[in-house]
Amino acid sequence: MITLKRLQNISSTRFRRMLHVVKVFKGHSPVYPRFVQLLLTYKCNATCPFCYQDAEKMKIPDMSISDAQVIERNIKKSFNFKPRIHFFGGEPTVNADFVEILKYFSNSGYKTSMTTNGINLLKFGREIVEAEGFKDIHISLNDLDFDRVLSTLKQISDIDVNKSLYITLNCPITEINQDKLIDIVEKFEHSKAHCLTFQHRGFIWHNGFTLMDHKLIKDQYEIIRKRKSSIPILFHPNIKSENIEAYYTDKKFPYNMNKCYFPWFVLFVQPNGNIIPCDEINIMVGNAVTESLKDIWNNSEYVAFRRNIIQNGISHSICHRCDHREY
Ligand SMILES: C[S@@+](CC[C@H](N)C(=O)[O-])C[C@H]1O[C@@H](n2cnc3c(N)ncnc32)[C@H](O)[C@@H]1O
Ligand code: SF4
Repeated sequence: MITLKRLQNISSTRFRRMLHVVKVFKGHSPVYPRFVQLLLTYKCNATCPFCYQDAEKMKIPDMSISDAQVIERNIKKSFNFKPRIHFFGGEPTVNADFVEILKYFSNSGYKTSMTTNGINLLKFGREIVEAEGFKDIHISLNDLDFDRVLSTLKQISDIDVNKSLYITLNCPITEINQDKLIDIVEKFEHSKAHCLTFQHRGFIWHNGFTLMDHKLIKDQYEIIRKRKSSIPILFHPNIKSENIEAYYTDKKFPYNMNKCYFPWFVLFVQPNGNIIPCDEINIMVGNAVTESLKDIWNNSEYVAFRRNIIQNGISHSICHRCDHREY
């Protein structure tokens, strides 16, 4: 096991480069999880038509503060350094214990971050920004209400008097905004966001893809790429211009099918404590409330899942348009 504390602080790019060696461990992960994705709830206060989250999962009860405390103690006991805790969902802020859970991890010395649609930031903005160790927020631009999101960004930035928070604006490319990518850049590059990330529609391959106009997206992608912007503008996945058509039209297009290291360094905890090897893969490999995470991290189910990626590449269809492997 690599237990060096400094592993926590090296950049993600360097870390991912190091992960090329994991193949020799045949499915074992020699590193402790660097990130824990804590899915606080699968429920949401929005109904984005493109969303990949599965309605069936909303039946899973939300994570309670008492379970979150058990999970925190389990992390501390199992791993030699503190992973970053990323609050995710569903919409993490609709969990009734959200603020308590955030403060509990924060007061226990973890770096924390979250992805949110921003709707509840009017209510919880101050608690979030002022939580010790909270360094990174991803706010999603899921609809065309640009003014709401602009004012949320301003509000968050105003609360962050020390300017220590990194604000990323996540913009999924959907049928309703696919003709507005340049407008979005122009509107938000001078906002309070530090980075704008466009996300090609991902994860699930369903009819929504047929509503996507790859030519329109490609034309704007090329203009945005050449343009000088005052903040970084990223595309995830970072597919080349000449592959955009295939990405949207050809199910067999082999987008990065041999590499995914996520299950080697990210731990996904569902609201009921179940551990899944990745966000959308419904294979339960343990439970963080009832079992030791140290035992789960390299148990036979987890190792078999990772080994399958090494031997067969990415074989789950849900993974075909997932961009996690680029982070
Ligand atoms: C599932 S949401 C959960 C967090 C929160 N509710 C939000 O919207 O930010 C996580 C991220 O995935 C993005 N997203 C949802 N469905 C997507 C899809 N089909 N393709 C690409 N990104 C998607 C959202 O815009 C958001 O940035
Ligand atoms: S706000 Fe997030 S989780 Fe909710 S429906 Fe939209 S993308 Fe999905």
